[in-house]
Amino acid sequence: MLGVIGGSGIYDLPGLENAEWKTVESPWGTPSDQVRIGEVDGLKVVFLPRHGRGHVYSPTDINYHANIDVMKRCGVTDLVSVSACGSLKEELAPGTFVLVEQFIDRTFARPKSYFGNGCVAHVSMAYPVSPRLIDHVEAAARAETLAYRRGGTYLAMEGPQFSSLAESHMYRSWGCDVIGMTNMPEAKLAREAEICYATIAMVTDYDSWHPEHGEVDIQAIIKVLNDNAHNAQRLVARLARDLPREHEPCPIGSDTALEYALMTAPDK
Ligand code: ADE
Repeated sequence: MLGVIGGSGIYDLPGLENAEWKTVESPWGTPSDQVRIGEVDGLKVVFLPRHGRGHVYSPTDINYHANIDVMKRCGVTDLVSVSACGSLKEELAPGTFVLVEQFIDRTFARPKSYFGNGCVAHVSMAYPVSPRLIDHVEAAARAETLAYRRGGTYLAMEGPQFSSLAESHMYRSWGCDVIGMTNMPEAKLAREAEICYATIAMVTDYDSWHPEHGEVDIQAIIKVLNDNAHNAQRLVARLARDLPREHEPCPIGSDTALEYALMTAPDK
């Protein structure tokens, strides 16, 4: 089953058949919103707006635990995260979709694991993105002739303020490609929940480093989001149409991540 978490500017997924908004409860607290459950050519699709409809949760306030848990409870095996991001590279212009493969997690004010409190596990995050799922996303981007780049490193920052010029230059010197506020701990929790994860990061701005573009401006970001939301929706719709109907085992074991990760003795 395909799950889609929509970021800024994406609060619904048009084109779902038999779609309804449904409340799914989680012992991890309140998710960002109800989920929109529907079908695309027989494939069940579950959509959740990350910031809630009306954009009410800031990146720090999002309950990532509840969001991923709700996806798991719905039966999601493959999760695509769509989010706005800033570009740290000249060639990644606003409107480009970056199919991220790596992350640097600089968030610091969010719980990051389902484990702890008597049950300890350490999953691998060496390869946070499922290669098979990103292959399908790339095929969909190509089929829709969208401007995309496969690969790249996403710097996850706490926010909600944007980076200073010095920070922006530092992240560039680290070789990062894009910057955003929401993909962590989402990717870590998806791995702990044994859900295959891939990110579609849509570039909305040049962060603060670019001498010709000046500071980040939220009004300009909203304009790029509005101009490109339909492209993101086309990409997801194509992915849903073309994704194999049966979940394919993940070649790097994202869907079996806990098999060798638990440290706590079974009788504890
Ligand atoms: N989301 C969109 N643009 C961003 C930026 N420049 N920094 C962090 N998050 C973003």
